[in-house]
Amino acid sequence: MYEFRIEAGDKSELYRQLIDAADSVTEGEPDAIANMANLSALIFEALPDLNWAGFYRNVGGELVLGPFQGKAACIRIPFGKGVCGGAAASREVQLVEDVHAYPGHIACDAASRSELVVPIVHDGELIGVLDLDSPRPARFDGEDAAGCTLLIQKVTARLASR
Ligand code: SME
Repeated sequence: MYEFRIEAGDKSELYRQLIDAADSVTEGEPDAIANMANLSALIFEALPDLNWAGFYRNVGGELVLGPFQGKAACIRIPFGKGVCGGAAASREVQLVEDVHAYPGHIACDAASRSELVVPIVHDGELIGVLDLDSPRPARFDGEDAAGCTLLIQKVTARLASR
């Protein structure tokens, strides 16, 4: 059993603790699916105001639903479609303050109002994306983007195993 107590007064401390927990929950475990499962649970519990947190994996050039927390979601997303597909195609973080204003946004959960998607790249290969949704408009800012990017960088090799 893992017991992580992530309590922080400010966002930088929150991400520091979350990244430490992400590192320790994945340490020594080569199975990517197991690591994605634990990371989605950890992130969903630690970050306030999320209604969905999880992974889409690059399976043969298409994003396929991976481990997540939240409501059942769309299974396959082509590169270039929606926020996740945009992150996969561009390999750039997508920070969307209002998903209703994002052309092509895929509404998996009608409650979602803002979204943050971080691409996962290992040895030049796109492994997949981390997708966070919030029911609060403009829930995510640059600090969230930087914190989640750092988290992913720390564990990327452990998400790339087969
Ligand atoms: N909204 C995403 C689809 C995935 S769900 O939010 C879980 C998108 O537009 O890519």
